[in-house]
Amino acid sequence: MSTALEILRAHERYRKKTLNMIPSENIQSPRVLKALASDLAGRYSLRPQYYSGAMYIDELWSYAEELAKKLFRAEYVFLEPLSGHIAALLTYMTFAKHGKIACLHPDFGGYPGNAPDRLPDLIGADAIYFPASKDKLLPDVEKSVEIIRSEKPDLVVLGGSLILFPHPVKELAEAVHEYGGVLAYDAAHVLGLIAGGVFQDPLREGADILFASTHKTFPGPQGGLILTNEEECYRKLSKNIFHKIADNIHFNKIAALAVSFEEMSRYGKQYARRIVENSKALAKNLDELGVPVKAKEWGYTESHQVILDFQDQEEKERLRRKLEECGIISDLDLRLGTAELTRRGMGKREMARIAKFIKRAIEGEDSKTVKRDVQRLLSRFNKIKYC
Ligand SMILES: Cc1ncc(COP(=O)(O)O)c(C=O)c1O
Repeated sequence: MSTALEILRAHERYRKKTLNMIPSENIQSPRVLKALASDLAGRYSLRPQYYSGAMYIDELWSYAEELAKKLFRAEYVFLEPLSGHIAALLTYMTFAKHGKIACLHPDFGGYPGNAPDRLPDLIGADAIYFPASKDKLLPDVEKSVEIIRSEKPDLVVLGGSLILFPHPVKELAEAVHEYGGVLAYDAAHVLGLIAGGVFQDPLREGADILFASTHKTFPGPQGGLILTNEEECYRKLSKNIFHKIADNIHFNKIAALAVSFEEMSRYGKQYARRIVENSKALAKNLDELGVPVKAKEWGYTESHQVILDFQDQEEKERLRRKLEECGIISDLDLRLGTAELTRRGMGKREMARIAKFIKRAIEGEDSKTVKRDVQRLLSRFNKIKYC
């Protein structure tokens, strides 16, 4: 029987030899990993102060907050949520408990937590879903404005899990604010793109709150955060942190976040620009090879995601498995992400090669031959860039 560390090493060897294209994932820099594996992995601190021995922990916590505020140009930040899901829960329960929440349904790219029996059920809220396009994965602006004006939801949430294009924050903000509603943007997937100044800038476009994961396009430790420029929102959220959604906020994660804020302040722009260039190149190459790609009419993508356009669930599962046999890691929605490939230093030329690997896998070529070529490509991209 293997020990825990042997299994862990087997995992690391395996994923070093695969093209990691799950858009919810990323690889962390050596400095971020060092912070995660530090003494802080077992320490506590609280506000107001309760524990001794926490002076450096508190210094790191405040330092991380200041870096986040600067990077995202926000007055207030919460680094306490342990994940993007908890950041969503904190936002939903603060602004829509026993009320109404309007958002994108998971069938149209919205976060699975938006389904009526998930987060809305947990906070006793009624969920209203925006009419949306399955091709573009965006809400219909005119109809959504109508719904907002007639239903007056307490909380409106934009952003999603399958996200190719900027969401209509500017277009919906006025209607939400007319009656005093709150507009939140779920940047779980696109936080790294926002930090790098590409995609969209929700807090400048009219969102009151931005919540996110810190480990998808943003290459930090697994965790969540919330940003706002509204003092009233900050005050309300503050009341729901300690001993409601959190106790120990995992200070190794806070230290690792501080490191990734430093790295993204320095390299974020180049990194984010390259991610989007790479997804556009990957999508175009796939399309030219005859692989169906979603949203072709609109230029495929402006984010880190490229979505293969297959409808049948069994076929999607078969393709996901075939891709893995060929050394290409994706998910059941056949979303392909370019963040980790970009972190490894790949560019347009590699995207063209990867498109060919995917085509060969889909066409049913022998998995071993494709995998050999995948691994040959990977062996030239072992170093993590932008850090
Ligand atoms: C849009 C969206 N929001 C929230 C989450 C939850 O984030 P986490 O996995 O960090 O809990 C996800 C996860 O993929 C997501 O896609």
